[in-house]
This record gives sequence, structure tokens and C-alpha cells, in this order.
Amino acid sequence: MPHLLFDRIDEPGLNTIPVYERRGGYSALRKALQMPPEAIVEELSQSGIRGRGGAGFKMGQKASFLPKGEMAKYLTCNADESEPGTFKDRELMQKSPHTLIEGIIITTYATGIHHAFIYIRGEYQLQADILDAAVAEAEAAGYLGENILGSGHSLKLVVHRGAGAYICGEETGLLDSLEGKRGNPRLKPPFPAIEGLYAGPTLVNNVETLGTVPTIINMGGADYAKIGTEGSTGTKLISVSGDVQRPGNYEIELGISSREIIYGLCGGPKPGRTVKMWFPGGSSSPVLLEQDLDLSYDFDTLAKAGSMLGSGAIIVVDDSHSAFEVMQKVVKFYAHESCGKCVPCREGTNWTNKFLARIEAGESTPMDLDILASVQSQIIGNCLCVLGDAMAMPVGSIVAKFRDELEAEIEAARERANALPLTDTEDLLALSAH
Ligand SMILES: Cc1cc2nc3c(=O)[nH]c(=O)nc-3n(C[C@H](O)[C@H](O)[C@H](O)COP(=O)(O)O)c2cc1C
Repeated sequence: MPHLLFDRIDEPGLNTIPVYERRGGYSALRKALQMPPEAIVEELSQSGIRGRGGAGFKMGQKASFLPKGEMAKYLTCNADESEPGTFKDRELMQKSPHTLIEGIIITTYATGIHHAFIYIRGEYQLQADILDAAVAEAEAAGYLGENILGSGHSLKLVVHRGAGAYICGEETGLLDSLEGKRGNPRLKPPFPAIEGLYAGPTLVNNVETLGTVPTIINMGGADYAKIGTEGSTGTKLISVSGDVQRPGNYEIELGISSREIIYGLCGGPKPGRTVKMWFPGGSSSPVLLEQDLDLSYDFDTLAKAGSMLGSGAIIVVDDSHSAFEVMQKVVKFYAHESCGKCVPCREGTNWTNKFLARIEAGESTPMDLDILASVQSQIIGNCLCVLGDAMAMPVGSIVAKFRDELEAEIEAARERANALPLTDTEDLLALSAH
């Protein structure tokens, strides 16, 4: 299994330039600075790398959307890492911050950008301090600042701490927050590549995406594309949590089987337990079942199976948990984090949260599950950003895949609450409908 980003990641001192350079660090930057900027964008396109932050958009293509020439353009590294279950960027920034910084310098050289930001989630104080120290070290070494290594390229890189809201990981919410406003998503188009930070063209990429750039330059885009599958090239950092015996971050080659990850690398659930469901790409991905474990772990296969690779955060749920409990945890998070700017998300997440409380209190009937599912389908595709979808997709999938269990849960809750026998309630509803 090739290790590119996590190769000897635990080596002491890797967060400093001497150790990073001894390991070949900043050689990709030296190589890149000898190349015409367009050739670097071409290498990124050839590598086929897709964004590692959630949407899986091709990085080379996004970089090519940026207008050419001298103007106020920006690069923003998305280090908000707010999707539940995701903790891979944290480890990379903490242990090898220069991998990210080198990737940022190369990318800004390729796109003619002279101002870059790392927008890091507020809770990541330690990682922000490490990045600040690494930026200062890179400036002192001539890798940042004016006329980098005599190339004529200049770059000011600023580490900015967010204030802890999930919506600030959404790229336009992030830009508003960086501008000092409340972090709310913007209507798209225009996309950030055309009109982003301070209304200037802005490239927004995830930590892991940018951190892979030095590897791509060193290997060459075509060779990088030989790793993984045709539509999902390269390696991927994954964060595995929940009911597995060896949770943690792993670097895998895209295209290995999901079973190999969950059972092989992570040891599967505790003895005697089975995988009930798993989120393949963070809590916003539709859940998959035990029978899906042999699916190849890559963008296209997971999409075809009705889910998504997302941020690469696999959350495993074993048979000791109820589907209702899982659904409620997901809903509470998204209802709390909805920014409230658009109606389908603000009302939809809140309504769903209240609806589940009603089920819990024994005030629902199984037919309410149809209403629950129908509301989810009306949220999907109708919000300003995909935060609403991020709740509706997993909820919709849980209702569809665990219908019998949820109906039993509703009946049990009704019994606990001494509600009217179901037949009577249904009769009453039928009467009231006339
Ligand atoms: C509600 C929401 C939260 C998001 N949170 C993150 C995040 O924490 N980190 C991240 O890289 N992308 C996040 N994204 C995706 C970004 O909007 C954007 O697609 C990504 O930063 C682009 O980088 P990439 O192309 O390198 O993946 C989020 C999206 C949404 C809708």
C-alpha cells in the first residue's frame, strides 16, 4: 500500500524544515519553480486528483478556471475540518505542516496568486500554533515572502483561526467568515474561482488536496494517475471511527475494498458484533450496509451505490445501536449547525429534529415515516448550500433501509407513552381526512 502523505509521518521533528528537507521536502517546489506555471496546472490535471474536502471536484480543472494574469487573486486552504468523523487534516498539519505549505506555494506559483490563507477551525489551537511556527520558519528560509528562491514569485501566507461553526467549512461561508462577516454561504454562481474572497478570483482547496501537490510534482501527474482507479486516482487519507477495534487515520490506495479497510486495517467491530451500517464519507453520506462492504472504496463506486466518498471519514455502527439513535444524533448536529440563511435547511433540519422528538415521545405512527422521508427529499437540492442535504441524505437512507426497525421503535415508544392503540389512531386520522 503506497504511503505518500503519511510516509514516516511519526518521524520526530518532521514539523521542522531541517527534518522535512532531509526527507526531500521542498524539492518539489525547487522543481516547480523551474517549470512554466501552466505546465504545473497541466500536471495537476493529468494527475486526475479530485478534491479531498468532500465534493470530489477535479483540482486541475478548478485551478484552470482562475483568470490568468496579474490581479488580486487568492488561495484559501480549507482547514476547517468540520464534517463529523473527519480528523485526517489535523494529523497532517500537526505532524508535517511543511507538506501543506509547500503545496500551497507551488499552487500559488502555478496560478499567479500572491496572497494565501489557511482557514483553520478554531478548536485546532495546537495545529494553528504549529502552522504559525512553520510559516515563520519557511519565511526565514526564503520559501515564503518576496522573490521566493529567486524565482520572482512572491507569496504572503496567513494562518487564520475560525470560530467553530460547521458552515464555515462550506467554501463560501468560509470566505465570508475570513472577510470578518458572519459565516453564511453565498449564492452560486458566481463560484469562488471567478468571484471569491474580497470579490477576487479565489481558489479554495482542502488541506489534503493541497498537501498532495508536492507528491504530484515530484512523481509527475501521469505517474500519480497510475495509483488508484481511473476515476479516483492516488491515495486518500481516511479517518475511521465508531465501532471498530483500531480506529484512526490511515492512508489507503483508492480502489481497495471497503471490507479491507473496516476489517483488515481497523479490525472490524468488537468480537460478537456485526456491522449494522457505515457512513463511507462523513456523517453527511447516505449509509451503507454490511452487504456493501465489498464495494471498492472510490468516488465513482460509492456514488453508484447511492452514497459518497465525501471527506473520507468512515463511521462504523455495529448492531448494539438502534437506527433511530443514529438518525437522531445526525439530525441534532445538522439542526444545530444550520446557519438559518435559507428556508429549506433552517426549517427542514429543525422540523426533522422536532419530528424525531415526537417519535421518541410516542406521538407518531409508522405512516409518519413517509412524511419524514418526503420532507428529506424536498430538502435535497433545494438549499443554498448542501448543509441541508447533508442531513437529509443520511436520514433518507436510514428511513429507507431500516423501515421495519423504525416502525417497531415507533410502536414501542407509543406503548411506553400509553398512546392509543394504533388502529384507533389510524381510524381517527382516516376520519379526519374526510
Ligand atoms: C456544510 C459544509 C461543510 C464543509 N466543510 C468542509 C471542511 O470542513 N473542509 C473541507 O475541506 N471542505 C468542506 N466542505 C467542502 C467545501 O465547500 C469545498 O468543496 C472544499 O473545501 C473544496 O476543496 P477540495 O476541492 O480540495 O475538496 C464543506 C461543504 C459544506 C457544504
